[in-house]
Amino acid sequence: MLFSLARPAIFLLDGETAHRLTLAALRLAPASAPPALDPVLAMQVAGIDFPTPVGLAPGFDKNAEVPHAMFGFGFGFVEIGTVTPLPQAGNPRPRLFRLVEDKAVINRMGFNNDGAGAVVERLVAGQKRTGAKSGIIGVNIGANKDSEDRIADYATMTRVMAPLARYLTVNISSPNTPGLRALQDAGALAALLDAVLEARGANRCPVFLKLAPDLEAADIDDITRIAIDKGLDALIVSNTTISRPALRSRHAGEAGGLSGAPLRDLAQQRLRDFRQASGGAIPLIGVGGIASAADAYARIRTGASLVQVYSALVYEGPGLAAQINRGLKALLKRDGFATLAEAVGAD
Ligand SMILES: Cc1cc2nc3c(=O)[nH]c(=O)nc-3n(C[C@H](O)[C@H](O)[C@H](O)COP(=O)(O)O)c2cc1C
Repeated sequence: MLFSLARPAIFLLDGETAHRLTLAALRLAPASAPPALDPVLAMQVAGIDFPTPVGLAPGFDKNAEVPHAMFGFGFGFVEIGTVTPLPQAGNPRPRLFRLVEDKAVINRMGFNNDGAGAVVERLVAGQKRTGAKSGIIGVNIGANKDSEDRIADYATMTRVMAPLARYLTVNISSPNTPGLRALQDAGALAALLDAVLEARGANRCPVFLKLAPDLEAADIDDITRIAIDKGLDALIVSNTTISRPALRSRHAGEAGGLSGAPLRDLAQQRLRDFRQASGGAIPLIGVGGIASAADAYARIRTGASLVQVYSALVYEGPGLAAQINRGLKALLKRDGFATLAEAVGAD
């Protein structure tokens, strides 16, 4: 209600200014406990008990400024980042565009972030404040744009973040760091994952891999095989797309990754492809254009154990996660599933 009143004013600001103001307001909010473990919606992935399957996708809280405030909106988990070893400014502004008529976003932020040191300090301070009551915080890791050895950057980030994160996401699917997505190629991917898994050491923090939707069938087979061989804990499908389905907004021609409603069908199709390639041998997390309980439920029936949202928050407001949680329960009941786990991959 409040959001629908404020939305026209928020939409007068450019995307990045609106986002900064949102973060500033959230920094004033008290830390919230995560939603209570719901017996119907609870889901175990990689040994972690997720109270609900709806997570906040990375990019919203890149620097771990407000993860604890986000639990109050019904998120079962929050993924911060992408964080790189060194702080970096990202691309020149403007670099974030709302495509209102398309319910979409185009961004070419370029891994702007405060760097590992500052983020570690915030995560430690957050843990001190919330202790065992903290919700699940995953850390999405990346490489610096100017790094001469990107694989070494991922290994460094793993070493630094594994002791603090409930899970790590290796992000090699951002379209905004030139050459990054080449790490999805079979040879490079195997070397990268070896380095990450070795850097994780005895800690055994679960490792997820986040993929682009712009992959060919052969890539999907290779990636799935390597991920299973190496013992990765989950695949996240997907990041933003560099493809451009028919769009109406005046910002449609901006360079960068497209997210939101126009990504929905592509991300759903890629999830189906990864499910087919893996046959359920590795958990999947569905992301991209999810804006309702029906969207989330379709991903779950296709094989996702968890889902994440970001762009739809811009259009639907902060009540979205709680609304999806409620809607999922109703859909499960309608179809005769006692738990969410029973519905995973039902199609
Ligand atoms: C402004 C913006 C920044 C993003 N930054 C990151 C990022 O740093 N790391 C990452 O893995 N994904 C990032 N993403 C991608 C989202 O996490 C998500 O995969 C994508 O937007 C698709 O989901 P959605 O349609 O619900 O937004 C970003 C997305 C947006 C819109």
